[in-house]
Formats: sequence, C-alpha cells, structure tokens
Amino acid sequence: MIDLLQVSPLPPLLTDRLKDVYRIHDFVSPKDPDGLLDRIGGDVRGILAGGMKGPNANLINRLPNLEIIASMSVGFDATDVVAAQARGVIVTHTPEVLTGDVADLAMTFILMAPRRIGESERFLRSGQWLKGRMDLGTTVRGKRLGILGLGRIGKAVAKRAEVFGLAIGYYDIKPMGDLPYHSYPTLKDLAAASDILLVACDGGPGNRGLVDAEVFDALGPKGYLINTARGQIVDQPALVAALRDGRIAGAALDVFDGEPEVPAELMAMENVTLTPHIASSTHETRRAMADLVVENLRLHFAGKPVLTPVPPQ
Ligand code: 8YV
Repeated sequence: MIDLLQVSPLPPLLTDRLKDVYRIHDFVSPKDPDGLLDRIGGDVRGILAGGMKGPNANLINRLPNLEIIASMSVGFDATDVVAAQARGVIVTHTPEVLTGDVADLAMTFILMAPRRIGESERFLRSGQWLKGRMDLGTTVRGKRLGILGLGRIGKAVAKRAEVFGLAIGYYDIKPMGDLPYHSYPTLKDLAAASDILLVACDGGPGNRGLVDAEVFDALGPKGYLINTARGQIVDQPALVAALRDGRIAGAALDVFDGEPEVPAELMAMENVTLTPHIASSTHETRRAMADLVVENLRLHFAGKPVLTPVPPQ
C-alpha cells in the first residue's frame, strides 16, 4: 500500500475510493503532529489537500519521500506550491470540472444582489409582506459587469452575463488577445466603469487585499461586489466599512477572509448575500473533482504523467 497524508477535510466520496490502494494517515488536526511525522513521515509518498487547507513548506520538507500533492480544488493557494516544486514534488489540482457550477453561482449572485433577492426572502419570511411592499430593486439588463481575472471561470461567467444583457469589461495581468470584452489597464479603472464587480482571479499571496477601499470608491454607491474566488483577495474590513457607509450598494459573497468565521457586521447587513463557500458544492461536480484526484494519483503511481498538474509557479 502507498502511504498518503490527508491534511484537509475531504468528502468520503473521495477518501472511500482510495482506501483499497492507499493507507491514508489523518493529518487534518493531529494531536501530536511531530510524533506522527517521526513515525510515518519517511513512508509518505503523497499528500491529499483541499482548497482551504494544504501543506506549508515545513510539512513538505519533513517528508523526504514525498512525490505528489493532490488537491481537490482548482485553487492551490493553500498549498506552498513553490516549496513543493522546488523539491520536484508534483502538485495537481482540479480545474475545468468545476467551472460551470462556480460560474452558475456567480451569475446567480449577479442577479440576486441588484434585485435584492436575499433581502426579499427575509422580508417575506419575517412577515413584513403582511404590512407592506418590499422596496424596489435595480434592473440587471444593460448594466456593466467588471470581471477581475478573466480565466476559465471569469470567461464562463462572461458568457452567461452576455445572455442577460450585461456589457462586459475585465482586468487581468495576462494579455487576453482578441476578445469581445473591454480590457481596462487597472483594477480601479475597471471598477469605475462597472456597476457590478466580480472577483474571479486566483487567491495567491500577490492578490491579497487587491480589492481595497480605493476600488470600492471607484465602484461607487450604486455598485455591487460579487466574490466567488477567495476571501483574502478582498480587504474585508474595507469592504465592511464601504457597505456600512453606503459607499457601495451591496455585495454577494461565497468566500471570506478567515472563513468559516464571517464578520458579525456582514451578517447583520440586509444588502449582503452570504453563502458558505458552496460554489462547487454539487453532487455532480464534487464527483468529477474526486475522479480527477483519483486519476491523477493512479497515473502518477503508475509512472505516467498526471492529467492536471499545477503549472510551474
Ligand atoms: C472547494 C474551492 O470548496 O476548488 C476550489 O478552489 O475553493 C472549492 O471548490 C474546496 O476547495 C474543496 O476542497
């Protein structure tokens, strides 16, 4: 049997399928991490990781025979990929298979925030409809959607948003070639030209706090922020302040800096829709993500190239 170290909570639909071939050591919250690593560290040839929890350089370097880190996520910011690749350890992730579901949630949010759908539901459930009508929302059709990060997911949202009659602009550090969308030279320029700003870039250390108070002020008091990427890309205290002071109109968020903790101020705001990091949480997509993890491990330990390696960082 091949020894794997599991560092993140992962669904049984993945781990149950690995048990016949691999010995999985639970390292999610180990009581005695050093003791466990002293005992089995030399046997470990693979790590199972997730989007919110992956191995740091210390752990990677404690495992002399580590060959592969397989993350059940498209985002690999939780894993120290640079440390892994410096040692020749392969890192795999699960792109493509979750793009559709993540883009669907982002599109749902783009409709929900201006139309005040979350607020409307709370209005009905709390009996306020019996006393009067809900305030008006804002039409989405004809508005401008700004996409921060036009990767696989950003492009998939753009396609959906076109159908809903939105004009699309974007900001990306990579040149995107010939696209029917307007490219802006800076994030601030994009925000100033957007009614709805979608965060769809990756969550690596270079993007921490990218969406800050200046970006909110450029977006303006009629603007909405949507985030289905990573919480740390947004300066969360600055977001809370912008919402509290009416410097932006609202937000819809699936991810948070420090999740699963969510600031109490956000919880209390009517103009904010909050979901618990569910963008890829469907039976179909989770199954496809698990398939990809299983297949990457199988190929690697059969001496073949993996399907979805993280490119050199
Ligand atoms: C998962 C994600 O919820 O793929 C990602 O990067 O953030 C999500 O799909 C999570 O990472 C599961 O491990």
